[in-house]
Amino acid sequence: MVDWARVRDDFPVLRRVINGHRLVYLDSACMALKPRQVIDAMSEYYEQYPACAGRSIHKLGEEASEAYSASRGKFAKFINAAEPEECVWTRNATESMNMVANCVKLDKDAKIVTTTLEHHSGSLPFIERARRDGLKIGLVEAKEDGTFDIEDWKEIIDGKTKLVSVVHSSNVTGTVAPIKEITEIAHDRGALVMSDDAQYAPHHPLDVQDMDVDFSAISAHKMVGPTGVGVLYGKMEHLKSMDMFLVGGDTVADVRYENGKIIPEYLPPPEKFEAGLQNYAGAIGAGVAAEYLTGIGLREIEKHERGLLATALNELKQMDHVRIFGTDDVSIKTGLVTFLIDTVDTAHDIATFLNDEYSVMVRSGAHCVHPFHYQLGISPSKGTARASFYLYNTQDDVSRFIEGIRVLIAASV
Ligand code: ALA
Repeated sequence: MVDWARVRDDFPVLRRVINGHRLVYLDSACMALKPRQVIDAMSEYYEQYPACAGRSIHKLGEEASEAYSASRGKFAKFINAAEPEECVWTRNATESMNMVANCVKLDKDAKIVTTTLEHHSGSLPFIERARRDGLKIGLVEAKEDGTFDIEDWKEIIDGKTKLVSVVHSSNVTGTVAPIKEITEIAHDRGALVMSDDAQYAPHHPLDVQDMDVDFSAISAHKMVGPTGVGVLYGKMEHLKSMDMFLVGGDTVADVRYENGKIIPEYLPPPEKFEAGLQNYAGAIGAGVAAEYLTGIGLREIEKHERGLLATALNELKQMDHVRIFGTDDVSIKTGLVTFLIDTVDTAHDIATFLNDEYSVMVRSGAHCVHPFHYQLGISPSKGTARASFYLYNTQDDVSRFIEGIRVLIAASV
């Protein structure tokens, strides 16, 4: 049994009192709070061994190299990659997906398939690649509740499709895509699969080998880790065959100067993709974040969040004027609920009221997923409000949130 009260104690920011209220943080789908363990690990790097990894042979350099490399191992274990070298450090999931979209070799007649539910970071890199190289794009339309019809995937992924980009867990509806089925269809037709795991990895056990996806993109900041660091997981054969992304220092085995020419020879993955001085503190913090979540147990975290989500959904469903987006089947959902109130003009008005009157922090806007909002007939300026739950939230947090919504509705009708 997890002692959730002790888990909360790990997060210093939760001691803050704002406007006389203890803070209720329901915006973890945007940014997760950070536990003391992650903060300490990063401070330790800066205080004790703030050196370059993989270059300097002195004591501090050696300690930095060891911690940086150990962290890659921790992350590989977290997602069950076959080998640590399949995990490339990036700035965030967005950069990871840009790497795949730009660096996978594709023929002129190739087609890329994506969906209307993608975060802009999961669709735009692929849309731009297609535009640049004159490739075709196939779009799978999500249903209004955020689920997919598997028959659509079978129809749209055809023999020309070489790459599929799909969001594993939607940051708008919280729905979890049937990634194994989609991957099987894609592989049958000879296409690679890029799974956007930015919202999935922090909240559910993630096993890239079991999913059999070719690539997975993760951001550390959503999984109690630091900002500005993420991972691109790729099967080694694909990382090897991909084009380079950024080149420069640290990607290089040798650069010869012969007959008036500069001739580079590059390192294998992951260094092939890690040009320049890296975010060592960030990578070390990300490794500790992965260990921290594993220590509590991803199944336990998933169960805890779904308990909170079930309460929130039950309460919201009984209220007049509330429109909920996304399925109410919590067994295929990450812990978030997105909604509007028909007596309140915009999502920002909802978020402002909850913040100002209750210190309940939710996100409002189009969540970087404009196409799905247009599909629902909601303009991005109206947006939707989203409350997202994580391991440090409590049933009392849900009650405060629900009380705020109730009072807002009463005041607005
Ligand atoms: N992906 C971030 C969110 O959903 C921006 O809030």
